[in-house]
Amino acid sequence: MTEFRVAILLSGTGSNAENLIKKLQNRELNSKKLSFVVAISNKKDAEGLKKCRALGVESIVLESQSRTREEFDRALVDKLLGYKTDLVLLAGFMRILTPLFVDSFRALNIHPSLLPLFKGGNAMMESYESMMKVAGVTVHEVSKELDSGKIVAQDVLYKKENESFEEFKARMHSLEHSLYPQAVLEYIHSL
Ligand code: GRF
Repeated sequence: MTEFRVAILLSGTGSNAENLIKKLQNRELNSKKLSFVVAISNKKDAEGLKKCRALGVESIVLESQSRTREEFDRALVDKLLGYKTDLVLLAGFMRILTPLFVDSFRALNIHPSLLPLFKGGNAMMESYESMMKVAGVTVHEVSKELDSGKIVAQDVLYKKENESFEEFKARMHSLEHSLYPQAVLEYIHSL
């Protein structure tokens, strides 16, 4: 059976990466076997790398510190091409990607807000602090503008009175963990 080769990009804890691998590794879809071929972090101490490695996925660091945005993306694209990547999944990858990357791969991201509200790196807190009664998570295609690609899936979370930020964050994460794998399957199925 041929493989559908998926790469993960992360920078931190990696709970989404771990969850995606646990739920989707070796899943059969469209007569292909979904295979996580590599996890790449731009931070060498990212917890997520250990989690992916523990699940048998090759996990590597591509340092971004000493490189310009273009140099980093060139190296990233070359790496991903080397792994014959069909799809890239961003899972807490805290770096803006250039057109060089976006034009080379299909990629999805998970974002902790109901886009187009609260784009950017502070979305979880902004959702928590907003006067809205609901928050939510979005899976979207990665495009040239930050958090602005086509929306693939969304789910809503009803806020609770007096809920702490930590509790809110935990509920948001579990929503992410149910939405992202399902959205990935539906996305691949639609290709
Ligand atoms: C998640 O909240 C995701 O929505 C955002 O970054 C966070 C990553 O968390 N893009 P984790 O590293 O997967 O635990």
